[in-house]
Amino acid sequence: MIIAVDGPAASGKGTIARALAKHYKLPYLDTGLLYRAVGLSVQRMGLDPEREADAVAASAFDDSLLEDPALRDDETGLLASVVSAHPLVRAALFQRQRRFAAQPGGAVLDGRDIGTVIAPEADAKLFVKATPNIRAQRRHAELQARGSAISKDRVLADIRARDARDSGRSAAPLAMAADAALLDTSFLSIEASVQRAVALVDARVKR
Ligand code: DC
Repeated sequence: MIIAVDGPAASGKGTIARALAKHYKLPYLDTGLLYRAVGLSVQRMGLDPEREADAVAASAFDDSLLEDPALRDDETGLLASVVSAHPLVRAALFQRQRRFAAQPGGAVLDGRDIGTVIAPEADAKLFVKATPNIRAQRRHAELQARGSAISKDRVLADIRARDARDSGRSAAPLAMAADAALLDTSFLSIEASVQRAVALVDARVKR
């Protein structure tokens, strides 16, 4: 069984995807981490994230980078959003995601284009959303807990900038697949969101 979970930044898709993987005992891939690793690597190599050739050069990052705490920083998310708009960066990361999705026992993947590009054949597709304000509030609390002094307004501005870039790009933009189930987590607790997600997946796969 392949489960595709897509949605904008801080919508709750990562938490939901991880919980689904645990519930159905499936391996889980956070595809945003791959784009974040390219963003961080481009920066550390002193290259320009806006230049496609530079971002492609950074796509061959060492896997140890996937453990780097700086991957979770807000700035890294913005860098990831910039490099992810380049079609050749998406192409460079495609096979790795595809192989993960197609492994024999099934998998859960979360990102922006899992249901539309990486695994259009997924058995269940969820599109997770929440209002920009609520997403900013959640992300701000998360960053504060990690010791960041960033303001809530700044986090909201970053979220809006990322939404515009992720949805507006021509290469695999953030979009809900026609056969995806919509899950709005704006007014749901984590537990309620996960419960709803399991119910939606069960309904899709009619187990
Ligand atoms: O999910 P995230 O916030 O970790 O993702 C970081 C950025 O990576 C996001 O702004 C857009 C990009 N991304 C993408 O283009 N496609 C994916 N499947 C996952 C992430």
